[in-house]
Amino acid sequence: MNPEPLPGTTDRRVAGLLRLLSENATIAISGARIAREIGVSRSAVWRWVERLREHGVKVRGRAATGYFLEKVPDILTADELKKRLKGSLFGKRIYHFFKTDSTNRVAFELGEAGEPEGVVVLAEEQTGGRGRAGRTWHSERATGIYMTLLLRPKLAPVQAPILTMIAGLSAHAAVEAVTGLTVDLKWPNDLMIRGKKAGGILTEMHADPGQVRFVVVGIGLNVNQERFPAELANVATSLRQETGKTQSRMESLVRLLREFESDYNRFVREGVSSVVKRFEVLSSYAHGKRVRVTNGTESYLGTTVGLGPEGLLQVERDDGHVVTVIAGDVAEAR
Ligand code: BTN
Repeated sequence: MNPEPLPGTTDRRVAGLLRLLSENATIAISGARIAREIGVSRSAVWRWVERLREHGVKVRGRAATGYFLEKVPDILTADELKKRLKGSLFGKRIYHFFKTDSTNRVAFELGEAGEPEGVVVLAEEQTGGRGRAGRTWHSERATGIYMTLLLRPKLAPVQAPILTMIAGLSAHAAVEAVTGLTVDLKWPNDLMIRGKKAGGILTEMHADPGQVRFVVVGIGLNVNQERFPAELANVATSLRQETGKTQSRMESLVRLLREFESDYNRFVREGVSSVVKRFEVLSSYAHGKRVRVTNGTESYLGTTVGLGPEGLLQVERDDGHVVTVIAGDVAEAR
């Protein structure tokens, strides 16, 4: 069964219209035929075409002459994704928004409403994308992947950050497989390509003392951005900028979800240490990196000396003390 429509999610019939147009790309289909095939009035077809246009989908033509797509859009609709994720934990309940404030906010509310593990929330655009430490996440329309997963792992609240590391490993594997690029992981949650940030993860949880009730893992991946606002231009990059080619968001997303499912299952089977070991191998930040750590109260320089058993970064400060970074920003010190 499909979940009850959630306010603001993409109407399945709009997704049906998009599919019909995509399957007949560049051929004009009359408003009357569309209306017949998806079982709505002709005026509804006109309204939905207008909505698709507002969301940047290039629909040409008019009701009388017929509508056609100038270009098949790379929209991450729930129906298409479900087809690609048959049998997967993440192929069952997918909520797609053309626009929402934050997929983490939506997923958190779904968690509170008792939705099961495996829910996926996707947006083409976020108006209030959340980043770490109260920052915002640049979420330009239909260029990046803005997605949140709802999980109900049996974990103590202190162990929940391991899910951020799992998502980092999955994103790392997916991006390398799809693009052939070399990707680095900056502890704990940044996907880096040639020193610039291509993706980030924000994990938020709802917990009772001693037991997580649910976790939302939000993943932002810069896929097809051609440029970034001035304040991000020196620190952010996208897969398109790095490869010189437009990338399919759908392909990256499917690969990312498949990788995450396998990494998550492996974690459930093998425990924290398997995640920590893999992260240590893949992240240039785990060992021997000169870093500046900044947290609410202090800022210090040091060299990384590995990850602790729960995945926390260990830094040997310049005064010789080895400290565990529990919270704070880690930046490469040059
Ligand atoms: C970071 O600061 O590096 C974390 C960024 C996380 C961004 C993603 S985009 C999808 C999800 N929804 C949000 O509001 N944030 C996360």
